[in-house]
Amino acid sequence: MLPNHGIDQDQMKQLLPQLGGIRDAMMTTELDMLAGKLPTPASMEPLDAGFITMPDRLLSEYEANRQGSELGRLFKRATHLHKIVDRVVVLGIGGSYMGAKAILESCCQPYWNELSRGDRGSKPRMYFEGNNFDNDATQALLHLLGAHKQQPATSELERWALVVISKSGGTLETAAAFRQFLVALESSTGGDREKLIELLVPVTGMGGKLHKMATELGVTDLYPVPDGVGGRCSILSAVGLVPAAMLGVNVVELLQGASAMTKHFCESKPEDNIVLQFVAANHLLEKHRDINIRVMSVWSKALESFGMWYDQLSAESLGKNLLGFTPLTTVNTRDLHSRHQQHQQGRRDKVFNNIIVDEYRFDSLAIGSRSSDADSLNEIAEKTLPEVMQAAIEGTNQALRDDGRPYTNLHIPQVDELHMGQLFQMMMLATAVEGRLMGINPYGQPGVEAYKKNMNRLLGRK
Ligand code: PA5
Repeated sequence: MLPNHGIDQDQMKQLLPQLGGIRDAMMTTELDMLAGKLPTPASMEPLDAGFITMPDRLLSEYEANRQGSELGRLFKRATHLHKIVDRVVVLGIGGSYMGAKAILESCCQPYWNELSRGDRGSKPRMYFEGNNFDNDATQALLHLLGAHKQQPATSELERWALVVISKSGGTLETAAAFRQFLVALESSTGGDREKLIELLVPVTGMGGKLHKMATELGVTDLYPVPDGVGGRCSILSAVGLVPAAMLGVNVVELLQGASAMTKHFCESKPEDNIVLQFVAANHLLEKHRDINIRVMSVWSKALESFGMWYDQLSAESLGKNLLGFTPLTTVNTRDLHSRHQQHQQGRRDKVFNNIIVDEYRFDSLAIGSRSSDADSLNEIAEKTLPEVMQAAIEGTNQALRDDGRPYTNLHIPQVDELHMGQLFQMMMLATAVEGRLMGINPYGQPGVEAYKKNMNRLLGRK
């Protein structure tokens, strides 16, 4: 609410009822279309609104059938793999890996892969590939897995599992990596097909090439990417939950958090609705102030990949028809020393959406005093890192405010499963609402096809 450069309460008051109407249509008409109760107009295809109800569906299926439900099956598989592997490689690109990475970084201890097996509670390290054609990254990971030894793994410390995720089953980055890592897995299981199947977990849509290949290999324990759930909204389907369960993340709490956010979205009045407020503030700044760069300013390293996930979610969903803002993630205070100069004094085309962590995972660490005070820090020796962080947040916001640069504050009580589930669902709902507000389809990504077509032609593929 900044004079001259921000927005005002009247603008919010005018827009919020319209957003409430969009919310109501999403929760009734769109879900009815998705369920086949109403026809879907061509302009709304694809309609990938299935993410809205998915957390509730997965939880209630699990409640009804602990063993046979998708979650029940997944937990059993993950528990088994915890005992026999020390590394998991996740292949996937875009919506098929960014969510899992965001879950790893936010819900597991920092430096996870460097911890001992004991400190990881016998859960595996996790690596992400199949998201590029990067020769050296692929070779280096294969080397780390010991592929060059061409010998069967003899203990859980040497053994690794392969999770391959692709909704379409045909994405070249992931498909090419699957071939390469499959050869390595075959060699590490000594050509034993049963052992290979035990260590291979495909997550894919029905009927695609990956599904066919997995079936040919004899894999029966496959995990679905359901129809009606698009890649970048699939984090709380098997796409994000299979890697999460492998890591020992509390999947039920992630889903409960998301379910709570959906309930809040559905039931709260627009003026009390955090999802609609977030859309309204950002959208009004774009409309009235030409602010078309949205900086997701996260105040914890644990949220960096969440920011990257959101960059993809918003860019692929809303960057259409010559519209859409440019998303950018900054991790603070780190990036105050790289980007902040421009943010404080550059063009007035940015809003800073702060994500502020109220409580950290570990006990607060004080700066500490020393008998020699050459660095002049003894005067703040008792201050802890969260206290210094708080001063940095308030200081940055004040500097922005004093210069008429708009920001929003979103507080996350703790970076854990319950709150991350809420945050993921909030951002997916907000993106879908804004797409409808802009008059574009937030689902689908037709613009990504052109590069694929050209690349395939240049490779001589039919
Ligand atoms: O959000 C999306 O739909 C995309 O980013 C996809 O996730 C990405 O292109 C990968 O597709 P697929 O899972 O079919 O390999």
